[in-house]
Amino acid sequence: MTVQSYFCQPGSVIAGELTVPGDKSVSHRSLMLGGIAEGTTEVRGFLESEDCLATLAALRNLGVNIGRFGHNRVVIHGVGPDGFKAPAAPLDMGNAGTAMRLFMGLLAPQKFDSTLIGDASLMRRPMERVAVPLRQMHASIGTQNGLPPVQIHGGQTLRAVDYNLPMASAQVKSAILLAALWAEGRTRVTEPAPTRDHTERMLSAFGVEVIRTDRTVAIEGGQVLQAAEVDVPGDFSSAAFFLVLGALAAEKGITLRNVGINPTRTGLLDILAMMGANVRVRPRPMMQKQGRAVGEPTADIDVQAGRLRGITVPEALVPLSIDEFPVFFIAAACAEGETLVRGAHELRVKESDRLAVMAEGLARLGVEHELLPDGIWIRGGAGFSGGIIDSHGDHRIAMAFAMASVRASGPLEIRDVANVATSFPGFVQIARSAGLQIDAG
Ligand code: S3P
Repeated sequence: MTVQSYFCQPGSVIAGELTVPGDKSVSHRSLMLGGIAEGTTEVRGFLESEDCLATLAALRNLGVNIGRFGHNRVVIHGVGPDGFKAPAAPLDMGNAGTAMRLFMGLLAPQKFDSTLIGDASLMRRPMERVAVPLRQMHASIGTQNGLPPVQIHGGQTLRAVDYNLPMASAQVKSAILLAALWAEGRTRVTEPAPTRDHTERMLSAFGVEVIRTDRTVAIEGGQVLQAAEVDVPGDFSSAAFFLVLGALAAEKGITLRNVGINPTRTGLLDILAMMGANVRVRPRPMMQKQGRAVGEPTADIDVQAGRLRGITVPEALVPLSIDEFPVFFIAAACAEGETLVRGAHELRVKESDRLAVMAEGLARLGVEHELLPDGIWIRGGAGFSGGIIDSHGDHRIAMAFAMASVRASGPLEIRDVANVATSFPGFVQIARSAGLQIDAG
């Protein structure tokens, strides 16, 4: 049965120790790089969510042999740089923007044609941001007025590009870096602000020389990846819901185990510190490996409830916490005083228009706020009423409002939540184990 709604009761008692599932960004990339590498790549802690399984299915449709074993272990028999086979049908990326955009980079240099499609949400998301730089590399790519389906005409010889990203986007950066592996010459990508660097770290672990200076990443074409071992850390973006939950309601504290703390992902930690939250990060020692291994830092994180104050979010933190805004807005609604976020236009082109959809939900729950073109203003401290929220099929909005129930005066029903399975399988069980009174139906 597909879960349609969450039903949350107010006033849960939050406590305990939790482990969230593996990182979505790292899991997608481990499959893709494993697929084009020479040799056998082993991935542990793989996120078995719908998004990552869409990437896995697409790679199988391109002729990559991938084994799935219990306990989130995946083994990829890499086909090397020229080993993909033409897919028999359009490749379906489901809800996964990361999959579609990174596959554009992987498929543009191939000898065959391919088509990328997705679900209703993905079919509304902008793809020219990737197509434009790839065309500058001489790729032949068509979109439908900027949207999917994406048609890729293979057989082009790609050449290197020197590209200044117009927006801070790790997906666009990554797509260019992947295409650069097949391009003649040295590709350089410069970003306006630092974004998540999982692609750069993982390419290095797979033996690619990645030259990083300030905000520019450069890669020489023609490098062949060698298989590696990938230990996927817990997804910081999934942990974020429980960081906020703990900061709002864990009187005796909660602990999150083995969370990825790559500094290009942890802007929410800085934001919570500015709000006065009680958060302690205890880094775990990096495991020493024999061969090639991906280096992503991890930590156990303790958080305890306390008084939060409203803040103005520094714009530099926006790309470093881009997926955490839905749940941050819940924290802001509970903080004393006003919170202001600007420079966050990118939130309008996520799985939903996250500014508009969050504003709609906050209005439903009686939170005073003002929606801005590139952000939001929130007056916090009054708590939430009960009510019905429409997540508009956006996984992170559904989970964010579930957290709001600990400060609500009545029950919450959150609708259209099936897509939580795209990033966080087992969310309800883990939330219940932390004490959240949540039922799915
Ligand atoms: C991701 C990059 C971000 C993020 C998304 C995952 C990635 O998107 O929002 O959830 O894995 O590279 P943008 O590149 O569009 O900012």
